[in-house]
Amino acid sequence: MRIDIITVLPELLKSPFEASILKRAKEKGLVEVYFHNLREYTTGNYKQVDDYQFGGGAGMVLMVEPIDKCITQLKAERDYDEVIYMTPDGNTLTQGIANEVSLKKNLIILCGHYKGVDQRVRDMFVTREISIGDYVLSGGELAAAVLCDSVIRLLPGVLNDETSALTDTFQDNLLAPPVYTRPSNYKGVEVPDVLLSGDFPKIEKWREEQALERTAKKRPDLLE
Ligand code: ADE
Repeated sequence: MRIDIITVLPELLKSPFEASILKRAKEKGLVEVYFHNLREYTTGNYKQVDDYQFGGGAGMVLMVEPIDKCITQLKAERDYDEVIYMTPDGNTLTQGIANEVSLKKNLIILCGHYKGVDQRVRDMFVTREISIGDYVLSGGELAAAVLCDSVIRLLPGVLNDETSALTDTFQDNLLAPPVYTRPSNYKGVEVPDVLLSGDFPKIEKWREEQALERTAKKRPDLLE
C-alpha cells in the first residue's frame, strides 16, 4: 500500500510512523507513507494556503489551488483508489471502514485545517470523507494518523500471529474477551481456571461467552 498525506503540518504527523507497528510495516516494505507540505504547492511569495471565507464569518479556509496542484501532480504519477478527506462531518470511522480501506492500493489523505477546505476540493477530488468522532480537532493530522494506524495494522504481514487482527475487539461486532498473562496468582487475584486448563474447545467457548457478556454490558448497541 502507498499512502500520500497532504497537510500544512507534516511535522505533526511524522512521529506516529516512526515507532512500533507502523515503523515495522514500513521497514518490511508493506507500506510506503509520503508527506506533502501544502505550502510547497503555492505560487506567491507568502506561501499562502488559506484565505477568508466568501460571505464573511470567522475562520480561514484552505484554498482550492494548492490542493488541486498537489493532487493533480500525484495523480499524474500513479492511479489512486481513493482521495480521503479527514473532517468532523465525514462518516465516523469504524472497524468496517478500516477493513475496507485496507484493501486499497494507493491512497491520498487530505488533512483539513481551520474551517476546513474550499467546498470545490470536496466536490472535485474527494471520494470519501472520514471523521474519527463527534468532536473537533484543530486539524485533520491526528485523525489521519488514527486512520492510518487502523488500516496499516490490517495489511497482511504487518502483525504476527500473536497480535492477529482477527481477534480484535469490533472485528465481529463484539468486544474482545478479558485477557491475562503471568503470574497466574497476583496478590491473591487468580486467573480464571479455564484458561489454565489446556482444554482449548472449553477455552474458546469461555472466550465467546465473555465477549458476549462484556459487549452486552458495555456496548449493548453493538448487539442490536
Ligand atoms: N478534523 C477536525 N476534527 C476532525 C475529526 N473529528 N475527525 C476527522 N478529521 C477532523
